[in-house]
Amino acid sequence: MRTEEARPVRLEDYRPPDWLVETVELDVSLDPTATRVRATLALKPNGNGAAPAPLVLDGDALTLAALTLDGAPLPSEQYVATPGRLTIAQPPQRPFRLTIETVVDPSANTQLSGLYRSGAIYCTQCEAEGFRRITYFPDRPDVMAVYTTRIEAEKDAAPVLLANGNLVDSGDVPGTSRHFAVWHDPFPKPSYLFALVGGTLACVEDRFRTMSGRDVTLRIYVERGKEARCAHAMDSLKRAMRWDETVFGREYDLDIFMIVAVSDFNMGAMENKGLNIFNDKYVLASPETATDVDFDRIEAIIAHEYFHNWTGNRITCRDWFQLCLKEGLTVFRDQEFSADERSRAVERIGDVRGLRAHQFVEDAGPLAHPVRPRLYHEINNFYTATVYEKGAEVVRMIKTLLGPESFRKGMDLYFARHDGQAATIEQFVQCFADVSGRDLGQFMLWYSQAGTPEIVATGNYDARGRTYRLDVAQTVPATPGQPSKEPMVIPLAIGLVGRDGRDLPLELADGRAIERGVLALTKPAESFVFRDVGEPPVPSLNRGFSAPIKLVANISADDLRFLAARDSDAFNRWQAVQTLATRLLLDNTAALRAGRQARKDAGLIDALGAVLADGALEPAFMALMLTLPGEADIAREIGRDVDPDAIFAARAALRSAVGEALAGPLFDHYRRLSESAPYSPDAASAGRRALRNACLDLLAATRRADAVALAARQYRSADNMTDRMAALSTLSFIDAPERSAALDDFYARYADDPLIVDKWFSLQAAIPEPATLDRVKALTAHSAFSFSNPNRVRALIHAFALSNQKEFNRADGAGYDFVVDTVLALDPKNPQVAARLLSSLKSWRVLEPARRALAEKALQRVAAASSLSPDTADIVQRALAK
Ligand code: BES
Ligand code: ZN
Repeated sequence: MRTEEARPVRLEDYRPPDWLVETVELDVSLDPTATRVRATLALKPNGNGAAPAPLVLDGDALTLAALTLDGAPLPSEQYVATPGRLTIAQPPQRPFRLTIETVVDPSANTQLSGLYRSGAIYCTQCEAEGFRRITYFPDRPDVMAVYTTRIEAEKDAAPVLLANGNLVDSGDVPGTSRHFAVWHDPFPKPSYLFALVGGTLACVEDRFRTMSGRDVTLRIYVERGKEARCAHAMDSLKRAMRWDETVFGREYDLDIFMIVAVSDFNMGAMENKGLNIFNDKYVLASPETATDVDFDRIEAIIAHEYFHNWTGNRITCRDWFQLCLKEGLTVFRDQEFSADERSRAVERIGDVRGLRAHQFVEDAGPLAHPVRPRLYHEINNFYTATVYEKGAEVVRMIKTLLGPESFRKGMDLYFARHDGQAATIEQFVQCFADVSGRDLGQFMLWYSQAGTPEIVATGNYDARGRTYRLDVAQTVPATPGQPSKEPMVIPLAIGLVGRDGRDLPLELADGRAIERGVLALTKPAESFVFRDVGEPPVPSLNRGFSAPIKLVANISADDLRFLAARDSDAFNRWQAVQTLATRLLLDNTAALRAGRQARKDAGLIDALGAVLADGALEPAFMALMLTLPGEADIAREIGRDVDPDAIFAARAALRSAVGEALAGPLFDHYRRLSESAPYSPDAASAGRRALRNACLDLLAATRRADAVALAARQYRSADNMTDRMAALSTLSFIDAPERSAALDDFYARYADDPLIVDKWFSLQAAIPEPATLDRVKALTAHSAFSFSNPNRVRALIHAFALSNQKEFNRADGAGYDFVVDTVLALDPKNPQVAARLLSSLKSWRVLEPARRALAEKALQRVAAASSLSPDTADIVQRALAK
């Protein structure tokens, strides 16, 4: 473990490296338990270091086998090698070559960081600090070097040998059963982007001609027999490459781009230069094995990792505090790609739902941190919704404030100015200040202040003066380490909607201009007076979710229904229904807890009825309109003293009431959409399936026999995974014989396919019944389950904690105990996965007192455990901090 590292690490302590590495020559001889790594580093002092600097290289669990300097063995009194560090106290203060030999055991590497084995395949994962588990190195992103990698292995065991860059040599090792390949990557890169792969892999190949006419070979490597499931990933890759050329002017830069799919992977995927390594869950798809949501995710992740080639690889991060420089920006880019490829409104709603479900929750709890943190104990714990999703929102706000042309100019300047560098957030934002002439000083608070800003907006119409006044006040709540906050720059896109549904002209009485309908809030409180407003308007605020804020506005239920039906901003049509439903669910949750009756509300049902009757709506959007806020959404709105049982009951009752009241139109849509055309994963077809399945789900929420029978029939007759899973998911909430029959059938059908069995695990973990915890525990002993595979753990245990609010938060605390037991068992094997699982307990402080006490006790049990990993120790300490 990294006990020798000085932790915590602080942004203000950043110093440039004393030593630079110009080239790295790696010679890796693969062996299941004793892989020999010989690394030759061309080192040179980094000019600006004044005093003669020692050479300190990072390591993690390494053993040094040999060390030479400019070809001569280094006497042992001239260096100190420990598992975590190699120090040469007095190296020559001139360029020299250091050759380091280490031996590592990939089979024993259960952390899946560094060089490890996934099944019989050798692969690497180096971000953030995995390279130091392969060889001693200045393992920090501002040390960029040119890598040449020679890999050698048994021909039988590893016929395919891959590394970053272009293949420059390969052949047999004479007189042995081994062969080798040499790869050269001409682009200087940080060590976290290094990768190698060796094993038996099948490959699917295609070509792409870049905008300047260069031909690039595209290859996707997968387990043999899975080739037919790569078509969607390959198609997504080609579309992403074209999109980046068209929208950002970015062309691919090597002759070959490779993707390798492996079964054991801590994350979703990794953008190693020219050699992306993927969790196979995010590559493999066919209509029979993957749902529409899977197809959508694969497209987004393939694009995301590809887009890193410019935002992350060509321009990387100076240090890990700048993580959002690559991740937030690249998420923004993949979201824009999906919006252009699919439906912009539908994608935006999906992204905002995700942001609220994960980032808002993080921001409201003990793990809250700024988009650019100032301090970390374990960097792996900062690959968070805040860095990623809020980081993407911050980039989007720059675009909203500057407008699309200026934004593109700023991006062009960023690429031109910083290509080949390890950059900072300041440098990124400066590009936009330079092209627009705007002062973005106050805007930088988005990077440094944690917490979700809360905006209270009050509108008043003056018929006499024909004016409309909008008063807005902003506050940013306190977060750990940040008790008081400065006001932020908030780009608030707005419209004033007239009775005919059209936007009224936006003109400020003081003559100030409003560009693109965006008000830029900068003060704790301010007022905007609009002139020549001929009728009382309905305000449509934060259109398109232009800022990641919580908004409270004095809008009546009637006006919300009006916006739901008429707003020209599709996002706010959806938001209006959400707001109506949320208000009702909050009231009803409180009523149920107080032993009162839930309120029956015709208003929401009318609004949903109008949605179902609106023939102009695209089906995917209609499906989103029909999806009521989830239990976690309601808990987040309540924010304190949360009782998950009451929330569940209120929501279940409302879903049933909607299904009952709108049964006619829901059945009509279901039948209308029961097409027999062959399956196609395109967005429009997926939208029709989403709507049909949303109708089915609402109908079944009533438990009426005809709806349950319909779901059972759909389960049996489905010709694609989307419809089969949707039916099974609907059935899984109903304790009826149809459910167990369908679950048994599903396992029998797909027992051979781990990624599909994962869906079966997740569904069962989500059943909101008291028997679920025992079912989940029993499933951990199922032959298809394994604690060593992150996908299995996520599918069963993480899914239980995240998507089963009711049973995870059982009143007896057994849900917390189970998750904590799993964390403790997992921590010694795979700390990253353990720490992420433990994060599911981060909202414990908002629970009602009895559950809060039980959750705290469970967390304290983790805190008291001996020899926790740095990852898990960091999460538990912050989660419990007063
Ligand atoms: N660079 C990350 C992968 C990563 C994260 C490696 C943390 C090591 C530690 C990659 O670009 C990424 O962000 N992947 C995401 C998916 C993406 C679409 C947001 C992931 O793996 O979840
Ligand atoms: Zn990324």
